[in-house]
Amino acid sequence: MGVIIWIKWGQIGLSAISTGGFLGVLISNKQILLCAGGLCSTALLALTSYLKDYGFAGFPISDGRLMDFLIYGDKKMLLNQPLKLKNIILRNRIVMPPMATGKSIDGVPGDVLIDYYKVRAKATALIILEHEYVSPDGMASIGQLSMADDGVIDSYKNLTAAVCSQQAVILAQINHAGAAARYTGLPTIAPSPIVLYDKQPVPHEMTKKDIAVVIKSFTDAALRAKKAGFDGVEIHSAHGYLLNQFYSPLTNKRTDEYCGTALEGRTRIHTEIIHEVRKATGEDFIIALRFGACDYMEGGSKVDEVAAASGIFEEAGIDLLDISGGHCGYTVDTKTQPGWFSELSAEAKKAVKVPVILTGGITSGEEAEKLLKENVADLIGVGRAVMQNASWAQEALAALK
Ligand SMILES: Cc1cc2nc3c(=O)[nH]c(=O)nc-3n(C[C@H](O)[C@H](O)[C@H](O)COP(=O)(O)O)c2cc1C
Repeated sequence: MGVIIWIKWGQIGLSAISTGGFLGVLISNKQILLCAGGLCSTALLALTSYLKDYGFAGFPISDGRLMDFLIYGDKKMLLNQPLKLKNIILRNRIVMPPMATGKSIDGVPGDVLIDYYKVRAKATALIILEHEYVSPDGMASIGQLSMADDGVIDSYKNLTAAVCSQQAVILAQINHAGAAARYTGLPTIAPSPIVLYDKQPVPHEMTKKDIAVVIKSFTDAALRAKKAGFDGVEIHSAHGYLLNQFYSPLTNKRTDEYCGTALEGRTRIHTEIIHEVRKATGEDFIIALRFGACDYMEGGSKVDEVAAASGIFEEAGIDLLDISGGHCGYTVDTKTQPGWFSELSAEAKKAVKVPVILTGGITSGEEAEKLLKENVADLIGVGRAVMQNASWAQEALAALK
C-alpha cells in the first residue's frame, strides 16, 4: 500500500495505491473529485457512482491512467482531456468520423482532399478517413476511395503526413459494401440472397470460399494502410454494408457457423478479420471497429445484444469501438437528440475496457461535454458540423473554457 500526495496550481490531491487498485481524492476549483481504478474496477465503479449521489463527481479510471490523471488532473472540462489509445495519446476527445466526400481521383486522394483533411486535423484528436473499398466488387459509391490494390499506397502518403503534421491521429476506414454495392457492374455478394435496395439484382449468397476472399481483402487493405502511414484501420460494420449484413438477423439467414440466429455466428467474420489484420499488421497498429449496433427494426439486431457483441470484438483484439446504428444509414427516425445512439454506447462501455466513440447529431461543444460527463462514451464523433466548419474543434474547445 502506498500513498501519493500531489499539489498542482489550484489543485491538491491524495491517492492511496495498492496492488489491487487505487483510490484518490482531488480538490480542484472548488470541486471534489473522486477517482478510482484498478483490478476490482466493478466495485470501484459502483462506489464512485454511489458517492455521486452525495455530491461527489466520481469517475473510474482504469489501470495505467493514474499518471494521466495526475498530469491532467483538472477535470473541469472533459472534452480537452487527453486519452491513451494503445501506445498513442489522443490530445482531446474529438473525433472526425468517416464521411464520404466522393472526391477521390481514380480512387485516391488528390490535393483538394488532402487540404480538406489537413485543415480539419488542426485541433481534432482523431481523423477516421472516409471509407475505402477493399476490393472492386465492394465499392459503395462513385468517387469512393480505394484500398484495393498496392498501386494506391503511395498516393495516401501525403494525406497521412499532412494529418500527422497537425498532431492528429489518422485511421483508414476499410469497407466492403456487399449487397449495397450498386455501381460496380460486378455481381454482388452478401451473407444471404436478400436485396437491400429497389431494382437491385439478388446478391449471390457467399460460399466459405467467398468469405475467405473477403477476409483476405480486408487484411490486405489494412496492410496497405499501414504501409501508407496510417496509425491504424477502422473495419466498417455499420450502415448496412457487408459486415453489418452479417451482424443483422434481417440480412443474415445463414444456417452454417456464420448463422444469423446466434451472436457467435453473426460476429464470426468480424473476429476472423480482426485476427488476420492483427497477424498481418502487428501489435502496435490500431484496429477499430465501426459497429452498427442496433437496427431499430422489427426482427433486427437489438440493444440488449450490444454488450455481448462488444465483448466478443474486444476479445478478438480491437483497440477502439466506434458505435453507430440504423439499418441502412446512420440515423433512425425516432432518435433526434444529440448523441442519438448513446444508449448503445453506454451498453458497450459496460462491457469493454477499450475506448468507445459515440457519434450522431452532436453539433456543439456543450453537447459533447454533457455526453462525456454522463460517461456514455470516451470520445465524441462530430461529423456534419465538422464537415461544414473546418474550425469546429478549436471553436468548441474555446467556447467551453
Ligand atoms: C456525407 C456523409 C458521408 C458519410 N460517410 C460515411 C462513411 O464513409 N463511413 C461511415 O462509417 N459513416 C459515414 N457517414 C456517417 C457519419 O460518420 C456519421 O455517423 C453521421 O454523419 C452522423 O454524425 P453527425 O450527426 O455528427 O453528422 C457519413 C455521413 C455523411 C453525412
